[in-house]
Amino acid sequence: MNIDFQARELNEAIRRGNPAVYELFSEAGRAAFFPSAGIIAQTAEAKSKPIDATIGVALDDGGKPLSLPSIMKNSKLAPAESLSYSNSYGQARLRELWLKRIRTQNPSLKAMATTPVVTAGVTHGLDIISGLFMESGDSVIVPDMMWENCGLIFQHAELDTFPMFDGKGFNVAGFRKKLESRKGKQIILLNFPNNPTGYSLTKAEADGVAGAIKESAERGNKILAVCDDAYFGFFFEDSVFRESLFTKLAGLHENVLAVKLDGITKELYAWGLRIGFVTYACRGMTDETARALEHKSAGAVRASVSNCCTHSQFLAIKALESQGLAAEERKNFSLLKSRYDEAKKVLSSGKFRGRFEALPFNSGYFMCARLKKGNANTVRRLLLQKYGTGVIALDSSHLRVAFSSVRKDNIRKLFENIHAACGE
Ligand SMILES: Cc1ncc(COP(=O)(O)O)c(C=O)c1O
Repeated sequence: MNIDFQARELNEAIRRGNPAVYELFSEAGRAAFFPSAGIIAQTAEAKSKPIDATIGVALDDGGKPLSLPSIMKNSKLAPAESLSYSNSYGQARLRELWLKRIRTQNPSLKAMATTPVVTAGVTHGLDIISGLFMESGDSVIVPDMMWENCGLIFQHAELDTFPMFDGKGFNVAGFRKKLESRKGKQIILLNFPNNPTGYSLTKAEADGVAGAIKESAERGNKILAVCDDAYFGFFFEDSVFRESLFTKLAGLHENVLAVKLDGITKELYAWGLRIGFVTYACRGMTDETARALEHKSAGAVRASVSNCCTHSQFLAIKALESQGLAAEERKNFSLLKSRYDEAKKVLSSGKFRGRFEALPFNSGYFMCARLKKGNANTVRRLLLQKYGTGVIALDSSHLRVAFSSVRKDNIRKLFENIHAACGE
């Protein structure tokens, strides 16, 4: 692959500061860079000049974005906060606010982290990581209960699964064993609260997982540890580790590059605005490495979607600056928690156990039911046809139930319907 001198400079910067991080990159990742001498950079230089004929937007005679009233009449944002292009790193204010939010919500994060780069949702973050770090022949270590889209996103790499649960909790021993079975480059993807199970690590399990990763790093393995925090914050039990696993991995070992993928998607109830973030940390990370990781990620944004929606970014900025946000989040959280509590209560009666059992869940949007008999898709179809109830069949024996989207007073009926359909 032909590597541009700008990519070579970034590679050198990373290699100088953190050689283990450099080793984790794929060939495409080594070739990635943000074109600092290209159109975007030249445009930035011309920004405040009286005549600016650089970037391909149309301006009115006052220098504001030319707009159509039919588009702008439904927006309270100014055209510059809505229609203009953002840069490929994302709006600086948004990146700064998001880093502040990460630090506030994860008080034990002491290690230096990069400034988050804006992505088009968490999915795009996963895709960026896939491009920068994975190539054919690589494997991604992931629990067997994972978001279905992982298979599509990580097209180059193989998914190397281990059983997610060991009895009532996370299978820390199985995870450790998986790490022991592989040497060299290790890519790990962990998602808590988890889709599809709704499980988050307890404090002891979080320590166990971090410990297993550290042991592997001490054996000389180079590890990319990706935390998919799409559902971050929806923790409903005191026993749960309420910070991101990223906090435990960020300063763990020089051989571990921790990645945090998160977004306003679920955290700010803005699924369709398509704004996520990618943030990195590594023990002893130098400033130079941090900037190089940001440049490579922005280059990957530039190469895929060019830049992320400005309108959405400004909606996020204004929300994050709003005094009322915390109270609004608490209100929605309480609603979701009341549905979670109801699901727990209904299931705790033991009434349904003859036909299905709930896998461990303590957080997030979902729970999973493992059927004792019958085929999950048959049950799903019956639920649709006869019981007016929609759930997801994950495989032949598991149903995924999104309690997050069901009124509390329908939760009992939901499980009674599943029970009845299983009986049929
Ligand atoms: C585990 C997990 N990761 C990532 C995503 C994608 O999030 P986004 O909509 O921000 O791309 C989802 C959404 O369903 C998810 O369940």
